[in-house]
Amino acid sequence: MKSSINKLIKTMSLVVILLVFYSFTFQSNEWLAPAESNKFDNPLKDDGKALAKGKKIYYQICATCHGRTGIGNGPGGTAFTIKPADHTSEKVQSQSDGALYWKITNGRGDMPSYNSLLSKTQRWQVIEFMRSLKKN
Ligand code: HEC
Repeated sequence: MKSSINKLIKTMSLVVILLVFYSFTFQSNEWLAPAESNKFDNPLKDDGKALAKGKKIYYQICATCHGRTGIGNGPGGTAFTIKPADHTSEKVQSQSDGALYWKITNGRGDMPSYNSLLSKTQRWQVIEFMRSLKKN
């Protein structure tokens, strides 16, 4: 009797440990930009020329992983544990320009940091193009 209670306690503890572990891994997949990035001012808002330039950059660099339509199906991202984000999704499109700018600048895991690879202007240009992916 006693040993079966011990067994039960052991099993329950294992379940609790697994649940805690799972919730931690799940949480770490959430990628939040710091709140202050929402205040970054997009200097190229609704600038058509910026959009065209951003499109070029996107096709040259980002599409490798995020795909040409932005849904995250580029050939470069298939082996990653955390897959390239779907830029057409509500999850991405609902974020502020500043938050996207912060993420492109800093990167995380397999998402490269574009702090030195792209100029500030180029990063805002790419965001202008990303906004056009919304309705696809
Ligand atoms: C080498 C592959 C790769 C390339 C190239 C790449 N990305 Fe990513 N990107 C990723 C991955 C993987 C993630 C998911 C990262 C995570 O959630 O930890 C991601 C996530 C993002 C996110 C965050 C989306 C969210 O969930 O909030 C943005 C924004 C983004 N990428 C923009 C870009 C832009 C713009 C470019 C081109 C300048 C680019 N990426 C190039 C792999 C890539």
